[in-house]
Amino acid sequence: MKSYSIKELLEKQPVGDSVEVNGWVKTFRSNRFIALNDGSTIHNLQCVVDFEKLDEAVLKQITTGSALKISGTLVESQGKGQSVEIQAEDVFVHGTADPETYPIQPKKHSLEFLREKAHLRVRTNTFAAVMRVRSALAFAIHSYFQQKGFYYMHAPIITGSDAEGAGEMFRVTSLDAKKPPLDENGNVDYSEDFFGKETNLTVSGQLEAETYAMALGKVYTFGPTFRAENSNTSRHLAEFWMIEPEVAFNDLAANMDLAEDFIKSIIRYVLEHCKDDLEFLEGRLLDEEKSKPQAERSEMTLLEKLKFVVENNFKRVSYTEAIDILRNSNPNKKKKFQYIIEEWGADLQSEHERFLVEKHFKCPVILFDYPAKIKAFYMRLNEDGKTVRAMDVLFPGIGEIVGGSQREERLEVLQQKIKDLGIDDKELWWYLDLRKFGTAVHSGFGLGFERMVQFATGMGNIRDVIPYPRTPQNAEF
Ligand code: 4AD
Ligand code: MG
Repeated sequence: MKSYSIKELLEKQPVGDSVEVNGWVKTFRSNRFIALNDGSTIHNLQCVVDFEKLDEAVLKQITTGSALKISGTLVESQGKGQSVEIQAEDVFVHGTADPETYPIQPKKHSLEFLREKAHLRVRTNTFAAVMRVRSALAFAIHSYFQQKGFYYMHAPIITGSDAEGAGEMFRVTSLDAKKPPLDENGNVDYSEDFFGKETNLTVSGQLEAETYAMALGKVYTFGPTFRAENSNTSRHLAEFWMIEPEVAFNDLAANMDLAEDFIKSIIRYVLEHCKDDLEFLEGRLLDEEKSKPQAERSEMTLLEKLKFVVENNFKRVSYTEAIDILRNSNPNKKKKFQYIIEEWGADLQSEHERFLVEKHFKCPVILFDYPAKIKAFYMRLNEDGKTVRAMDVLFPGIGEIVGGSQREERLEVLQQKIKDLGIDDKELWWYLDLRKFGTAVHSGFGLGFERMVQFATGMGNIRDVIPYPRTPQNAEF
């Protein structure tokens, strides 16, 4: 007797064969029909048991959520909804699930409720589909870069530098929080800490990736990053995964081309390989949208949105053009924006980004050439002396999904920038070395992995696309 995953069995359909499957009970109807799922696919396998032949004690243990091994003959199904089913001859109960206490019952649970049961929520169709798409996207990302000749680089997770200069890091220490060693001024003496200096969890692998790009040419990182910003939004996590390609000799235009091609390629991959899950998620989204007022409903279904991104060019717009559009927009004039755009230099909020993408251009947008003042120190200064070669990719429903730039490769300009911003250049000696030894034009960007999973699955809250979300006041599990 051959053991199959349900996915395999439904694909191969070896009708007439004796087969064996393991899985969890989704539903059990009329003491006869078990819908079994093993996580390999969104589809369940119908198993028909002859309850008269089953022991009463075994029957009692077949409850929603219980784990079973079922063996029997695969036959063509008489009923609707499936083409094959198992005529079960033997049922072995690995473990039952008490219906009084098992929280995942065959009814609709709210996403909020399921967040509190994050260890069990992946047993629902929605979370299983999301996590399978997440896995496929991760594979597509590696495969895209590997095919294009990029090398995967592991940036350190514990770091002694603050890449974005944003002061929103999680400290890593082995000092005793109750009585840390103090120096003569009464400050904590980090020279006695594990690394002999202050260290933090990384906010980005970019600076280290730059060092590798300047030797291997084309590299990418794909790892966890951490930000201690207190943003309780549907698009921020304290721990999230980021993909950061970095390419020697690429300028900003080449960087935009890479970002667009990369994003389209990974979406194309899930369209091809995750059809069943995407169709399920599309249905879920349509259901969810029914409860929203007409004006807030999306004009496109999930699959239409994904195809739209793959088939259309991203609109490239300079920050200066974007500010003009926003300044003259209805929500700005009617003071509907929370932050009114008054002058050039204003930082864009997600309401502005979403206006540009969803209302004005109605397609993904790449904004570039931002004011130097609102961007990081390492971005290359333009000839106008006030803008930098930054780019953000903005997506419908998400806002910023990618942030990147051409890097400042000129030593003196970079040193001046670091000085102006009051950054300690002693911390960045190795980064400055790149500009001393064989410096060259280079560029890169960071894609927020969870924001991409949100886009691909249509999930509204970033907490629902990562197995165990870390957000302010929440690190359960
Ligand atoms: O725009 P960010 O901060 O850019 C960087 O970190 C650069 N070092 C990237 C580079 O040039 N190599 O972050 C990049 C992306 C954002 O566009 C967003 O998608 C995501 O990371 N991101 C977050 N995702 C979830 N939660 C957060 N708190 C995030 N902060 C940024
Ligand atoms: Mg950014």
